[in-house]
Amino acid sequence: MRIVFYTGKGGVGKSTIAAASAWQLSRTRRVLIVSLDPAHNLGDIFRVPLGQGERNFSENLVLREVDLKKLSRNYLEREISVLSGTYKYLQAFNLDRYFSVLKYSPGIEEYALLTSIDETIRGGKDFDYIVFDTPPTGLTLRFLALPQVTMAWIDRLIQIRKQILEKRYTIQKIMRPLKEGENNPEVRLDYTEEGDEVLQRLRFLNENYQGLSRILRSEQCGFVLVFNPDLLSLRESERIVEGLRDLKLPLRLLIDNKVTEENRETAAKAEEELRTATGGVPVERVLLSGMLGGEKGLYEIPEDLVSILH
Ligand SMILES: Nc1ncnc2c1ncn2[C@@H]1O[C@H](COP(=O)(O)OP(=O)(O)OP(=O)(O)O)[C@@H](O)[C@H]1O
Ligand SMILES: [Mg+2]
Repeated sequence: MRIVFYTGKGGVGKSTIAAASAWQLSRTRRVLIVSLDPAHNLGDIFRVPLGQGERNFSENLVLREVDLKKLSRNYLEREISVLSGTYKYLQAFNLDRYFSVLKYSPGIEEYALLTSIDETIRGGKDFDYIVFDTPPTGLTLRFLALPQVTMAWIDRLIQIRKQILEKRYTIQKIMRPLKEGENNPEVRLDYTEEGDEVLQRLRFLNENYQGLSRILRSEQCGFVLVFNPDLLSLRESERIVEGLRDLKLPLRLLIDNKVTEENRETAAKAEEELRTATGGVPVERVLLSGMLGGEKGLYEIPEDLVSILH
């Protein structure tokens, strides 16, 4: 299974190109296209009612729009239930009361998105390709950075937790052991690494994020950067190139979209600049088409968008 992310500045044609690529891939392979953008338009592009759900568009192509609000709510509910299960004494704080406020916390959307990508990849074994249409750059780079950021935090938290356990171990040793038949009404806290649920949970999370990070950086995965032949799109694309490089995520293809007779020169310059900035990533050019949205569906782009991805 291969995983392809379409990124780029707002409005450059990410969704259109992602949809057209998924359609082209589905001629010979089984493809799932997933829209991660809260402002979905997959249904409009393929001209079918979708409404944040899923449907088969053709024998080989499945369309899916994720419901970001629902995802965030589920993510938070799950985390709160894990938290209250692990830290029983937190129940005294009645976390549920904070639920309505916590859902607006910074980072929740990003974590929910990342969890959804993780689950989509795990559940997508039947597909040859999973194509992700991503939200605007800022959010995309933030959630893609999450595995690394989180692993750094978890690493530190594991160290702190180990120190806590060491201190508990010392305390346990200086406490008088119970005599036979004696009842101890106090809660005895875990003091070994094996018995500690918090440490186990941290290690589980660490492995999970490491796994996802490994997949996103692997041969199996690729990023396609869509841009337009104009200065603003070019500058933003350069920032995305830098962001992907920092995160060690593989950029495989550049698509110069909406090229016309008038902007052909700017297009050539922008392509050259990005080719150099990326150390030679291939560029495909897509013309601005008057046909799109007319008789033909928005996904029927004549240019070859996928041979490089095979
Ligand atoms: N090659 C093309 N020829 C003609 N129109 C195009 C082409 N590519 C995209 N468009 C049009 O440009 C507009 C923006 O495209 P699209 O929604 O795919 O961009 P986007 O990058 O996904 O935007 P957003 O950042 O809002 O998600 C749409 O109206 C689409 O039909
Ligand atoms: Mg879009």
